[in-house]
Amino acid sequence: MDGEKLIAFFKDLHSHPELGNYEYRTTRRIREALEAHGIEMLDSGMETGCIAVIRGEKPGRVIGLRSDIDALPISEETGLPYASQEPGVMHACGHDSHAAIMLGAALLLKEQEAELSGTVKVIFQPAEEVDNGARNVLATGNLDDVDEFYAVHSYPWFRPGVLGIKEGPVMASVDKIDITIRGKSSHAGYPYRSIDPIPAAAALALSAQTVVSRNINAFSPAVVSITRISAGNTWNVIPETAELEGTVRTLNPEDRDMTEQHLRRMTEHIAAAHGCTAAFTYTRGSAAVINDAGLCEKAREVARETGFETDLQEDTMGAEDFSDYLARRPGVFIRVGTGGFVESHHSRFRVEPEAIPPAAAFFARLATVRAAAD
Ligand code: NI
Repeated sequence: MDGEKLIAFFKDLHSHPELGNYEYRTTRRIREALEAHGIEMLDSGMETGCIAVIRGEKPGRVIGLRSDIDALPISEETGLPYASQEPGVMHACGHDSHAAIMLGAALLLKEQEAELSGTVKVIFQPAEEVDNGARNVLATGNLDDVDEFYAVHSYPWFRPGVLGIKEGPVMASVDKIDITIRGKSSHAGYPYRSIDPIPAAAALALSAQTVVSRNINAFSPAVVSITRISAGNTWNVIPETAELEGTVRTLNPEDRDMTEQHLRRMTEHIAAAHGCTAAFTYTRGSAAVINDAGLCEKAREVARETGFETDLQEDTMGAEDFSDYLARRPGVFIRVGTGGFVESHHSRFRVEPEAIPPAAAFFARLATVRAAAD
């Protein structure tokens, strides 16, 4: 498949976006392209998504290349000739380009199979946006032997020809807080007969911000957002309970643990100070994506060799379930400059298609070099 065909493949996926766990057509297209080139697919048992494998003739290590394939519930407004034909669904995070880049890499690796030392597993992961795709793929056991993982992600702020490769944390952990403060209901005219949970909830919402401003190192980014407070259902009754919901985002695992501890203690003690009790639930989502420093350097060498410039992308407090792979083995989340200069998850986000073929060549080379490494 030459560059033009790869771009046509990308445009076809772009026209037919599918939401997480519903990527049936997308998966069929990927499988057809892999089959047409004689590439083996692992029997993953997954309903959507797939894993291709290219086995070199010489021994070596196992490298995982990861793309994601799902779209978002957004109505496209790019005006592109190959814009989405599915109402209310759009590839607004560039996952169509990720699938095309990793398909291109798989085809190049297949062509060079005779010279390949080791094995490359190319992952077409479903449901990244709905936060269970990575876990489901890993649960198949098909990636247990992988030594290093590399992910592709489009980056609208770099032009094609530039790769963002940065060591350390590059995307945040995403956790959810649920709090219920319980007091005692009464007539609003007799507050002294109640234990009012609302002043406790209000105090807690304000105090929660001091975790970031007073406890976290000022050089380390963290976010605490209380996003919902609800209590009562009328004007003349003091309610029994008040609920708060929110999110915590951190780049460093220590900050994550510390924020959970502080919020838990603050909730218990502020509730107690108001005579209330509290239930605090902290649910951990994806961990921060932390790129391995040594492997970033190796990836930069391959970038230079394949004609790319490299730069340092901005960190974001957004999240990515690629961290689930990195919890098992080291790797790098690599940003591919795709131009467009409109942020992702926006109705006018676009990928410049000429970014795709060179990125495929980069990932094929990176996997080849790393599979052959000692
Ligand atoms: Ni994305």
